[in-house]
Amino acid sequence: MTTPQDPGAAPRRCLAVVLAAGEGKRMRSHLPKVLHPVAGRSMLAHVLDAVGEAGADALAVVVGPGRDDVAAEARAWAPQARVFVQDERLGTAHAVLAAREAFHQGFDDILVLFADTPLVRPETFSHLREKLSQGAGVVALGFAPADPTGYGRLLTDGDGALLAIREHKDATPEELAVGACNAGLMALDGARALGWLERIDNSNAQNEYYLTDAVAIARGEGAACALVMAPAEEVLGINDRVQLAAAEAEIQNRLRRAAMLDGATLVAPETVFFSHDTVLATDVVVEPHVVFGPGVRVGEGCVIHAFSHLEGATLAKNVAIGPYARLRPGANLADKAKIGNFVEIKKAEIGEGAKVNHLTYIGDASIGPRANIGAGVITCNYDGFLKYRTRIGADAFIGSNSALVAPVEIGDRAFVGSGSVVTQNVEADALAVARGRQAVLPGWATAFRKKMAALKAAKKG
Ligand code: UD1
Ligand code: MG
Repeated sequence: MTTPQDPGAAPRRCLAVVLAAGEGKRMRSHLPKVLHPVAGRSMLAHVLDAVGEAGADALAVVVGPGRDDVAAEARAWAPQARVFVQDERLGTAHAVLAAREAFHQGFDDILVLFADTPLVRPETFSHLREKLSQGAGVVALGFAPADPTGYGRLLTDGDGALLAIREHKDATPEELAVGACNAGLMALDGARALGWLERIDNSNAQNEYYLTDAVAIARGEGAACALVMAPAEEVLGINDRVQLAAAEAEIQNRLRRAAMLDGATLVAPETVFFSHDTVLATDVVVEPHVVFGPGVRVGEGCVIHAFSHLEGATLAKNVAIGPYARLRPGANLADKAKIGNFVEIKKAEIGEGAKVNHLTYIGDASIGPRANIGAGVITCNYDGFLKYRTRIGADAFIGSNSALVAPVEIGDRAFVGSGSVVTQNVEADALAVARGRQAVLPGWATAFRKKMAALKAAKKG
């Protein structure tokens, strides 16, 4: 939080009030609506992040009674946020006033945001603030939905100046014919906001304290009210899981576009799913049907083959993974490492140029540079109680279908014979074979067949 500065020189100070006290019944969920994730993080986190980017100096989050989970999420993403409880859900103006105390520090701009409207871009918040700096008392955010049913209508005069916002349930037939609707978010002049909000009453169809009434009240006092229009997909409010999926689709499209414009090739972008924080360097190629969970960083020149799933993984340069690879949290792949099909990697360092090509589980392990891990190798990292590490040295060769029972170390350049169950450390440059020795009995099969055929004939006779 900034301290009061010389108003002549200082940038405008902004308080953002995030309304998150809605019940979200239509989600039909045990999880509060605003905690449902979009692109890998909660709607609330998206809003806090966007408003932070737009330069808010202070944040107030209004939650419903007993909603410690929502409060905790707010603090997790914005430790400086103050959390206020709205004891009764009496309308959007009532909700803003629950954060009344936060206003007293003296802000130039007040932004009111809805936590269930997670796709608003930081630039849009900046546009709202710009209008305040140009002298507006209240700035509404408008959009033109395909179907305006249920939204507040933006009533303007002949010059397009905003006169009032009329809620759907209070509107006359003429007002209902207005196509421009209120997205809900609003910016108010910090010096006058509290006075206007306190004058709002609940004499309307829903007996609610409508934030939207601030427009007519401000106009009544001679303040100018302005309008910023946004594309409908940006102000999508989420009330049910159909809208949740629509928001996910919109944000995925944004993330795909951003990834491509930043220099990654997405062969079939509509089939790739990102997390809000996925980082792809230039010349990364992502084949179809790839899912990125949170915390993935992919370095230059990497290829993610089709049907791979990554989460909490770091790929250095020119790494290739998949098709059908699974990288779990803590997978850390050095330059030119290669992870093949049906391979799962968890909490493991894979050295430069190392290969883990087929049907393998590597967990709680480190693999040295250029090591080759054969098909079907398993690091047995768990005994049902605790987890243990496997260390494989540089240039080591682990034969196919071996089980490395951790804790265990395989030295540099060592070989492990195929099908081994390795329970003891193997020193550098050694060969370890831990399986039954092969026995070959010449002519045994012929003798066996003869004996059995005779037995069978005797039984029939
Ligand atoms: C609001 C606007 C409407 C606009 C629409 C856009 C008002 C009066 N109306 O209507 O003009 O077209 O959004 O979607 O503002 N909330 C609280 N406490 C409350 C009431 C609401 O925290 O007591 C929060 C909700 O969690 C939600 C937001 O405020 O995030 C909006 O509330 P909601 O009930 O959805 O308002 P609408 O009736 O949709
Ligand atoms: Mg709503």
